[in-house]
Amino acid sequence: MKEIIKIFDTTLRDGEQSPGASMNIEEKVRLAVQLEKLGVDIIEAGFAASSPGDFEAIREISKVLSKSCVCSLARAMEKDIEAAANATQGAKFRRIHTFIATSPIHMKYKLKLSPNDVVKKAVDSVKYAKTLVDDVEFSCEDACRSDIGFLKEILSSVIEAGATTLNIPDTVGYRLPNEIANTIKELHDFIGNRAILSIHCHNDLGLAVANSLEAIKNGARQIECTINGLGERAGNSALEEIVMILKTRNDLFNNFEVNINTKEIYSTSKLVSDITGIRPQPNKAIVGKNAFAHESGIHQDGMLKHRETYEIISPIDIGIELDSTLVLGKHSGRAAFKDKAVSLGFVLNDNEINNAFDKFKALCDSKKEIFDDDLREILGEEVTHIPQVFSLDVIQVSICSSGKFCAAISIIKDGVEYSDSALGNGAVDCILKSIDRISGIKGLLKDYKVEAVTSGRDALAKVVVKVEFEPNKPALIGHGLDIDTMSATAKAYIGALNSYLSMKDLITSKEGTMLLERI
Ligand code: KIV
Ligand code: ZN
Repeated sequence: MKEIIKIFDTTLRDGEQSPGASMNIEEKVRLAVQLEKLGVDIIEAGFAASSPGDFEAIREISKVLSKSCVCSLARAMEKDIEAAANATQGAKFRRIHTFIATSPIHMKYKLKLSPNDVVKKAVDSVKYAKTLVDDVEFSCEDACRSDIGFLKEILSSVIEAGATTLNIPDTVGYRLPNEIANTIKELHDFIGNRAILSIHCHNDLGLAVANSLEAIKNGARQIECTINGLGERAGNSALEEIVMILKTRNDLFNNFEVNINTKEIYSTSKLVSDITGIRPQPNKAIVGKNAFAHESGIHQDGMLKHRETYEIISPIDIGIELDSTLVLGKHSGRAAFKDKAVSLGFVLNDNEINNAFDKFKALCDSKKEIFDDDLREILGEEVTHIPQVFSLDVIQVSICSSGKFCAAISIIKDGVEYSDSALGNGAVDCILKSIDRISGIKGLLKDYKVEAVTSGRDALAKVVVKVEFEPNKPALIGHGLDIDTMSATAKAYIGALNSYLSMKDLITSKEGTMLLERI
C-alpha cells in the first residue's frame, strides 16, 4: 500500500511574497481553480489578516473550490486566527495554518519573547484555532535553525493542543540535505503517528527541492511548495520538480504517491507566469522554455532514433502535446477552435470564444503556422475580466529626421475614436506618451518585457508592462499580444491602464492602499 505525500501549494501566499509577483483577487481565484484541477491537496490561499485584499481573495476562493482544502496563514494571535477562520468559512474543506518563530535569533530579536512564552503562545493559538476548525497546522518558523530539544517540546505541546500537521520550515534556506534528513528523522521518530510531519524549504542555496526529498525519505508526508518555485527571495521548493522527481525516479520513491495530475503542470506554470509576469528561467527544470529542447546534432540524432536516449521525461507527461506543432489553420472552423480551447483547458463562454476566434482568424492572415502556445495566449486574453475601457485601434510609429521617434495612435472608448501623436526618445516612449495624451492619465513605466511566444520570424510578440499610475502605489500589470511588437506594446500599456481604471477607487481608498501594498 502506497503512502500519500500531500502537496500543499503556497504559490498564493509565500509565492505572492516574491517581489513583483502581484495578483489581484480575480487572478488569485483563477489560479486557485487551476491548482485544484492540478490536484493540489491543500491550497494556502493567502494570509487573511495581512490585508483586506488577501481576506477577500481567500473568501472568494473558498466559495469556488470543492476538492482542495483551502488554508489561510495566521500568526499565533487571536485576531489572525479569527480572520483565517472567517475568510475560509465558505470552504468545503478548510485549514488554519498558524505559526511562530522558534529559533534563538528570531525569539530574541524579532519576537523579544522567552522560549516559554513562545510555547504558551503556540499552544493558546492552536487551542483557539481548534475551536473554529478541525484541521489545524502549526509551523515553527525558522525551525531549521532552532534547538531540536526545543522543537520537540513545542511540537509535543501543540499536538496536545490539537494540531494535526506540524510543519518544519527551513525559512532562510540554510540547511543541506543530510542535515534536513537528520532533523526530520529525529522529529519523526519522536512524533510517530501523533501528527503529519510537513517540510517547507526555501531555495537560498539552491537546495529546496533536494531538501524536501530528503524530508520525504525520512518521514515527512506533506510538502509545501510553489509553482515555478516562486517565493520569498530565491523562492520555495518547486512543485513541478518535486512531483516529476517522484514520478521519474519511481524506482527510489515507489512507496509514495501524490494526487497531482502531472498533465496540468505546464498549463499551471504558464498561468502563474502570465499572471505575475515572472517567467521561469529558460533552463529551469521541467517548465523552462528549453527544458525539452535538444540543440546539439548528436542529441537530435539520438532523439530521432529513440527519444529515451536523451529524454528522461516526456513533455506529454506535463501537458505539452508532442503533435502541437501545427494545430489549427486558416480554414479551421469555430467548432474545431472551440474543441481545441477545451482541450487546452479553457472554459470560456460563447462571447469569449467568439472574440478569441476572431483574433485567431486575424492571426492566420499574418502568421503561417499557429501553435498551441499561440492559442493559449489568445485564449488567455479572454480570461481576464477587466473591463476594456480603452482599446487600441490603429498605431503608426516612425523615425523623424531629428532622430526622435513619433507615434500616431488612435484608441476606441465607448465606440468613439480618439487620436493623438507624440514625439519620444524611442518607440516605446512615444507610444506611451501618445496614449497618456489621449487618456489624460500619465503612467510611469516600471518594467517592460518582450518575448516571442513561439519561434520564427512571424512569431507573436508578447509584451508585459508594469506601470505606476499613482505615485508610490504599486505598479499594475498589462499584457499585449500582437505580431507587431509596437502594437503589442500599446496593447500592454492600455491593458495596465484599463486595470488601473477598474481599481481606481480601491487604489485611492485607505483599504485599497493596504491591499495594493500586498498586491
Ligand atoms: O518560510 C517560512 O517559515 C514560512 C512560514 C510562515 C511557514 O513561510
Ligand atoms: Zn516560507
